[in-house]
Amino acid sequence: MSILIIFYSRTGTTKRVANRIAENLNCDIEEIFDTKNRKGFFGYIKSAIDAMKKKLTTLEKINKNPESYDLIGIGTPIWTSNMSTPIRTYIIENKEKFNKVAFFCTEGGRGGEKCFKNMAKLSDKTPVATLELTTKEIKKDLHLRKITEYTAKLI
Ligand SMILES: Cc1cc2nc3c(=O)[nH]c(=O)nc-3n(C[C@H](O)[C@H](O)[C@H](O)COP(=O)(O)O)c2cc1C
Repeated sequence: MSILIIFYSRTGTTKRVANRIAENLNCDIEEIFDTKNRKGFFGYIKSAIDAMKKKLTTLEKINKNPESYDLIGIGTPIWTSNMSTPIRTYIIENKEKFNKVAFFCTEGGRGGEKCFKNMAKLSDKTPVATLELTTKEIKKDLHLRKITEYTAKLI
C-alpha cells in the first residue's frame, strides 16, 4: 500500500503531527505552501476571513501526484471550525486524482468533526480514518498513542 501524507501548517503544529505520521508509516510526505502571506496577526485575521468565506488561494507548485498513491492522508489546522484555505484549495484542485483518503487535523479545541464532514463532502470520499488533535495534547506529547492507533488503520 503506497501512502502520501500531504499537509498545510501555518505555525508548525500540523507539521509536527504530519512528520510523526509519515515516520510511523515510513511513507512519502509533502508540505503545501500558500503564495499568500499568512504570518503574524494580520495573517491570522486574513486566514480567519478566508476560511469563513470558504475562499480559495493560489498554492505553490506541488511535486507529488496523489494519483500515484493508494491512499493520501490530508492534514490541516482548523480555521474557524473548518479546513484551512490551502487545504480547501488542494482538495478542489486534486480530488479527481484521489484514491482512498484519510484526514487529520490540529486545533485549539473545537471544529474537527465539522471539518472532517466538510472535507469528505468536498473530496466526495469517505475517509478510511480521521484523527483530531488539540495543541494542548500535542505540546504534552499525549498525541503519540492516538497517532499510533491512527496509522494502524491506514495500513
Ligand atoms: C485563522 C485561525 C482560525 C482558527 N480557528 C480555530 C477554531 O475554530 N477552533 C480551534 O479549535 N482552533 C482554531 N484555531 C487554532 C488552530 O487550529 C491551531 O492552533 C492549530 O494547531 C494550528 O496549526 P498549525 O500550527 O499547523 O498552523 C485557529 C487558528 C487560526 C490561525
